[in-house]
Amino acid sequence: MIELEHVSKRYGETEVVSDVTLTVPPRSIAAIVGTSGSGKTTLLRMINRLVEPSAGTIKLDGVDHRSVPPHELRRRIGYVIQGHGLFPHRTVAQNIATVPALLGWPRAKTKARVDELLTLFQLDPAEFAARYPHELSGGQQQRVGVARALAAGPNLLLMDEPFGALDPIIRAKAQADLLSLQARLGTTIILVTHDIEEAVLLGHRIAVMDAGRVLQYAPPSEILARPATPFVEALVGTGERPFKLLSLKPVAEAVEQGIVEGEPIAASATQRDALAALLWSGRPALPVQSAEGVIIGKVTVAGLSKRAARPE
Ligand SMILES: Nc1ncnc2c1ncn2[C@@H]1O[C@H](COP(=O)(O)OP(=O)(O)OP(=O)(O)O)[C@@H](O)[C@H]1O
Ligand SMILES: [Mg+2]
Repeated sequence: MIELEHVSKRYGETEVVSDVTLTVPPRSIAAIVGTSGSGKTTLLRMINRLVEPSAGTIKLDGVDHRSVPPHELRRRIGYVIQGHGLFPHRTVAQNIATVPALLGWPRAKTKARVDELLTLFQLDPAEFAARYPHELSGGQQQRVGVARALAAGPNLLLMDEPFGALDPIIRAKAQADLLSLQARLGTTIILVTHDIEEAVLLGHRIAVMDAGRVLQYAPPSEILARPATPFVEALVGTGERPFKLLSLKPVAEAVEQGIVEGEPIAASATQRDALAALLWSGRPALPVQSAEGVIIGKVTVAGLSKRAARPE
């Protein structure tokens, strides 16, 4: 069980995580969703003491985690780093064996575990074990990152956007694998994602963050049915059905007049993808680009939320 009590983190004058209190029950998955810069990674890294909290306490199975040396914590807690974070000068097998090596596992046991994990993630050991990270695709690197975090069979797994770079089909497979693995091993997982659908799919409970605060922490059904604030409501639309509707319509039908900054969205993209991109970017509006590469206006969180809430 993980208990966060009034946890805050400041850098200089800025509080990037503010007074977060939440409990993750053993053998469950908590998903943290929120916009870019809302403090998700910082919150995760405070749990394994890669970042020290400025205030508050964190308890693991009832023990204040400050009483455990950081290196000890990091051996016990699996951590999947945002953007995979593999060691570039170590092979795939050496990367996965990082924690087993620290724990002094015998070679045969380590090799068997590495092969098992590579096979699980559909990477043939004969082909991939001896490669270096730069010889892998982004999605393959990400899978190796997850395998590395699982290597020593941790009771607690912290995952920061573990499936972000995967294409939809491999992503769905990876999500299903994670669920079955979690059910089998009973691992407690805290998973950061910017995708509310992934949070709904994987999380037993979802924490919605904005500007360092947890606005709501509840099971997915409750978040969807009774969003606590307008922000949470915008994030989830007003339930699953509106999401499906948004995913059927192109951005071209939701373009508003005006010039805004940011990474343009294609007019042919779905409104669902546009809403995800908006929430992910942390911007209220993004420019829309035609197939010819011309900016034809903007798409806004407010506009899309309205469409989700009141589909014509
Ligand atoms: N070491 C640091 N020093 C100063 N500010 C920091 C530091 N680390 C993070 N921040 C700031 O804290 C805020 C939260 O960062 P964090 O990485 O937790 O966001 P996030 O929710 O994980 O974002 P993203 O979705 O983009 O990964 C950001 O505004 C960031 O610039
Ligand atoms: Mg982050």
